[in-house]
Amino acid sequence: MKARRLKDGIHWVGAIDWDRRVFDSLIPLPDGTSYNAYVVQGSDKTALIDTVEPHFADVLFARLDSLGIEQLDYVVINHAEQDHSGSLPRVLQRFPEAEVLCTAKCRGMLDDLMELPMDRVRAVEDGEVVELGELDLQFMHFPWVHWPETMLTYVPQARTLFSCDLFGSHLATNALISTDPIEVRGAARLYYAQIMMPFRKMIARNLPRVEALRLELIAPSHGPVHPWPEGILKPYREWVSDDVRDHVVIPYISMHESTRRMVDHLIDALTDRDVRVSRFDLETADSGKLASALVDAATVVLATPTVLGGPHPHAMYAAYLTNLLRPKVRFASVIGSFGWGGRSVEQIVGALTTLKPEFIDPVLSRGRPSADVLQQLDDLAEAIKKNHVEIRALP
Ligand code: FEO
Repeated sequence: MKARRLKDGIHWVGAIDWDRRVFDSLIPLPDGTSYNAYVVQGSDKTALIDTVEPHFADVLFARLDSLGIEQLDYVVINHAEQDHSGSLPRVLQRFPEAEVLCTAKCRGMLDDLMELPMDRVRAVEDGEVVELGELDLQFMHFPWVHWPETMLTYVPQARTLFSCDLFGSHLATNALISTDPIEVRGAARLYYAQIMMPFRKMIARNLPRVEALRLELIAPSHGPVHPWPEGILKPYREWVSDDVRDHVVIPYISMHESTRRMVDHLIDALTDRDVRVSRFDLETADSGKLASALVDAATVVLATPTVLGGPHPHAMYAAYLTNLLRPKVRFASVIGSFGWGGRSVEQIVGALTTLKPEFIDPVLSRGRPSADVLQQLDDLAEAIKKNHVEIRALP
């Protein structure tokens, strides 16, 4: 367990979590993850950028030992979430001279989250520079580019940005530097969808600050380091833009086949009109894949039977999750079957408060879909096609 060199004076000292399968008791991790920590060694001083999940602290220490590090001057905490800050109490015990540098907001959050000698935690300003000797740390406050306390750390002499969770991916790999752009782009999209998408507008506002740095390396806190920054900046530019694609996402659940028949008919009608569809059976769907499909889809159609007067709970969960993730969908609708009435449409619409899409008339079927219901689904497909043409959705 040795440190791995990134550049002169900069090493990776993080941990790879090959076996983790769920994050935040919510986010599926099909490919594990990593907790990246880095050491920056100037001619005078040494800084650790972030730590690791607490139960990987010994891995962090082993990698620091491999560099012969006996003294740390600074521990930079870009973000208070415990997968990066959780080992801080042990790091401060082991390196009693180290001072913690973070935003003022982060300082308060660290105090809330863990037992720390707070006289050793110093708030740094946006743009403040700490000199290590030949290498500097320059702090960039990025509030709400994830959490309210988040900052990034830039080393201008090495043209290296420690970007915290931004530009990360949940990918356990020993490829420290990204060598498979397609694999990393897929993992980064999945990560963006589940972690960063709710902060899309703040990221869009702050992206020019990153683009102005003329970077050589972007080193996030999860997943491989990006050796060609444009390889991750370009997709981020697309994801955070207001542009959407000619794509309909249909999360659905069915109890006795009526709603599923409606979904299949709608998909056929959209296919006839050359509109791309992603279909997710909520009984088994991977919520990460659903989130990823929502990144740039123009329309979402939730399909649910009515159960005891309201939507099926799986459909309500999908609506709630979609609302939390705040995708940039422009249009939404609800379809589904019912037995004797209910308020499924109102409850689904009421759950989508943050999205403010234009709602297209729902299509409801008493029992199995009749010829008239199938015609209404054709009309819904036609309305979606027309909407997408009018907004000139990206292909
Ligand atoms: Fe990777 Fe927001 O912690």
